[in-house]
Amino acid sequence: MSNDIAPLAALFEAAADVRVRAHAPYSRFFVGAAVFDEAGRIHVGCNVENAAYPEGTCAEAGAIAAMVAAGGRHIVAVAVVGGPGEGEEALCPPCGGCRQKIREFARETTTVHLRDGSGAVTSLRLDDLMPLSFGPANL
Ligand code: THU
Repeated sequence: MSNDIAPLAALFEAAADVRVRAHAPYSRFFVGAAVFDEAGRIHVGCNVENAAYPEGTCAEAGAIAAMVAAGGRHIVAVAVVGGPGEGEEALCPPCGGCRQKIREFARETTTVHLRDGSGAVTSLRLDDLMPLSFGPANL
């Protein structure tokens, strides 16, 4: 999916659209994520659980994989929507593993946008979610 000038509303719309495709029969917690890359494209992912529980993957991981497969290399912004059940929304802060995955493709200004059940948006720099993070420059 791509969109040349994608405002935040389009990023959230993409995340909400893909959330309905989440495969979450075990947790019943459905998550959709959308990333906005350096070329202005949106890439999406949803959580994909597995009967062998540890093999499940998060929505952010799917969106990042789609971005990389499409040639994107920098995450400008991420939007995450999630919650219990297929309709309800609740704040879904990225898990620790997903923060590290976002970090790999982040710049100083990379922002993570979260929407709660009331529609309120919380926007945080990745650096605030993950201070003193380990990244490519540390190697
Ligand atoms: N989940 C995500 O997709 N992203 C996160 O950042 C947090 C958790 C998924 C994993 C699992 O399928 C479900 O939410 C409950 O943990």
